[in-house]
Amino acid sequence: MATTQENPLLEGLQVRRTPDPCVLTIFGASGDLTKKKLLPALYALAFRGLLPPRFAVVGVARTPESDDEFRERMKEAVQEHARDEFRDEVWEALAESMRYVATDFSDEGGEDEVARTLSELDEERGTGGNRVYYLAIPPSVFPTVVDALGRRRSTEGWTRLIIEKPFGHDLESAQTLTAAIQEHFTEDEVFRIDHYLGKETVQNMLALRFANGIFEPIWNRQFIDHVQITVAESIGIEGRAGYYEQAGAIRDIFQNHLLQLLAITAMEPPIDFTAESVRNEKVKVLRSLHTPGPKSVVRGQYGRGFVEGEEVPGYREEQGVAPDSTTDTYVAAKLYVDNWRWADTPFYVRMGKRLARRETTIAIQFKRAPHPPFEETAAEGLRPNVLIVHIQPDEGVSLAIGAKVPGQGMTIRTVHMDFLYGGAFRTGMPEAYERLILDAMLGDATLFTRTDEVEEQWKLVDAIAAAWKRDRPSFPNYAAGTWGPPSADELLARDSRSWRRH
Ligand code: BG6
Repeated sequence: MATTQENPLLEGLQVRRTPDPCVLTIFGASGDLTKKKLLPALYALAFRGLLPPRFAVVGVARTPESDDEFRERMKEAVQEHARDEFRDEVWEALAESMRYVATDFSDEGGEDEVARTLSELDEERGTGGNRVYYLAIPPSVFPTVVDALGRRRSTEGWTRLIIEKPFGHDLESAQTLTAAIQEHFTEDEVFRIDHYLGKETVQNMLALRFANGIFEPIWNRQFIDHVQITVAESIGIEGRAGYYEQAGAIRDIFQNHLLQLLAITAMEPPIDFTAESVRNEKVKVLRSLHTPGPKSVVRGQYGRGFVEGEEVPGYREEQGVAPDSTTDTYVAAKLYVDNWRWADTPFYVRMGKRLARRETTIAIQFKRAPHPPFEETAAEGLRPNVLIVHIQPDEGVSLAIGAKVPGQGMTIRTVHMDFLYGGAFRTGMPEAYERLILDAMLGDATLFTRTDEVEEQWKLVDAIAAAWKRDRPSFPNYAAGTWGPPSADELLARDSRSWRRH
């Protein structure tokens, strides 16, 4: 295996063993995810020599297409979306391994066609019956595909199932999906994607907490006043009305990405970094989350406004959205983790579309210094210490501390100690999907969500959504390009706190 010394491009991706030979089959190969994320990720892995030497990709979708047409379309996708320069020799080697099968699995014989292609590839490329199935398809067609795959399980090699979100629509539908999967697959063969866990900066939260001695002793209710987690997007729904109308921000972001960020922030140190240990600790946090009362949850929907200087339509004016839609595009909540470490420490979370700018941060606000011995006026510009983990953009960590303003007398102001990824590592950040596809091929489920985590996440969402059914919100209640509805500010103002300034 190449080392980072031999190949500097390997920096930024943890170099471990190379996956076994295998075939990666992508269901939903004509979709956006395949084009924008999956193929660019595979190209990045190929670029760094991280794919197994004996490897093949099969695209499966309804659209009729030949192998060559599929390769051509994927080539364009890579040229447009990959993070690396386009190199013919890298692409050619990957393209040569690619096949396409047109079926939607309700066709007679669709599964036979896929199975035949996979067996041919085993013969041609020596992939030994090892299978990774990537299900980038809507949950409604899930059971059919899972059942067909299960019935046709290869008798040789291993099988792994990567499943895209959303995993169900509520607890009940998630449990139905799980039951369908468990008919044929065991939990350690299932890799449920939450792409936030593949982000370097999210994993860095674990490094920050557990590789440094200074944070953990103060990472609790005694020293921390509260935590703020923000997942703000400036984009709208990007033509995904069909999906988003059903999901809203609560199912699109809160149920998965946001609760995972919270779990990683609040979890106890795992005894080791295995999938079981890490997920055991995360699920304990999810289980300890107290269901927030209606006053502790704010929902919003954007109206018209200006984002980055451009006028954008309101949510109800987006194509495919009902003119009286009550779908939430913004959620803020005050959550409590009911355990010894965090009792009475609020976790304020907010997420939304069409906000002023893109920003995902976790801010840990510490309690004020107990007794600053300075005159009150000296410390007017001083705010409490805050440790901010910048998930994206401007990836890094910064610590707000009080410092003396140079000059006569004693005036204290808040300054920031910053660590920026770009500056410290001088390497491009790998995309989340690179890490996740590689981990699934290696059989490492640490960065994937387990059944019990997903179920706990749904329980909380179901409780919040049930309360919402009781009244009709007056939407829209925030203009595109702002930081959300005024009621979100009031949520913190009631506790004499405010959202972090931007
Ligand atoms: C997806 C959501 O899971 O995450 C999208 O479905 C959202 O609505 C996206 O835009 C955000 O991901 P990222 O990586 O751009 O923060």
